[in-house]
Amino acid sequence: PQPRPLAGKRVLITAGPTHEPIDPVRYIANRSSGKQGFAIAAAAQAAGADVTLISGPVDLGDPAGVRVKHVESAREMLQQVEAALPADIAIFAAAVADWRVANEGEQKLKKTSAGMPPLQLVENPDILATISKLGDHRPKLVIGFAAETEHLIDNAKAKFARKGCDWIVANDVSPATGVMGGDRNTVHLLTRKGTEISVDSWPVMTKEQVATELVARIVQNFTGTQAE
Ligand code: C5P
Repeated sequence: PQPRPLAGKRVLITAGPTHEPIDPVRYIANRSSGKQGFAIAAAAQAAGADVTLISGPVDLGDPAGVRVKHVESAREMLQQVEAALPADIAIFAAAVADWRVANEGEQKLKKTSAGMPPLQLVENPDILATISKLGDHRPKLVIGFAAETEHLIDNAKAKFARKGCDWIVANDVSPATGVMGGDRNTVHLLTRKGTEISVDSWPVMTKEQVATELVARIVQNFTGTQAE
C-alpha cells in the first residue's frame, strides 16, 4: 500500500486565473493554466490528505479524489477559501487578478464616437494575505507563490512582509521560460524562521515533479520525517 503521510490533514489549494467581468461578454484575466496548482492537489491527495481545490476557469479535468470548487472571480475565490476552513495547510497557487472593474456593464459595451469607455478599476481582496493574517483559524502552514518576470528573489522576499505567509514558491514566468501554460517549472522555495529567510533553488522539473517535491517538504515539516 501507498504511504499516506498526510492522512487526516486538511489541505486547501487555489489554482488557475480569476476572471473579472467588464460586461456580460468580456473579462480581465491572468495567463494561468492552473497546471501547477492541480498537480499539487493531486500530489497532496496521493499523500493521503483531504484536499479542497478552489479553481478559477481552466481547461483541466478535476483531479480524482479531490473536492473541487469552481469559481470565476477573486471575490468568489475568497468566499470558497473561507468556506473550506479550517485547514492545516493552505497553498495559494492561483494567479488572482489584482483589480476588478468597478463599473461593470450590465449590457455589452458598444463602440461609440465618444471614444473608449472608461474602465474604473478597484483592488481585489488579497486572499493569501487575508488568510495569513487570520487568528485562530489560520492554517498552520500557509504557502504563497511569487510569479515574477524580473528581480525574482528580491520580489519574493518582499512578499513575506506584505503577505505574512510561511513559505513562498518563487518562479520566473518571463515569456522566454515557457512556464506560463507549459509543463515545466523552475522554482525556488523560500522559507523563513522569524526574519531569517533561506532560499532553496530547485533544478528545472515538470510541474508534477515540483508538486511531489513540495508535498515532500510539507510532509517533512509536519512529521519531521523524510518522504522517500
Ligand atoms: O502580490 P502577488 O499577486 O504577486 O502575490 C502572489 C501570491 O499571492 C500568490 O500566492 C497568489 O495566489 C496570492 N494572491 C492572492 N490574492 C490576490 C493576489 C495574489 O491570494 N488578490
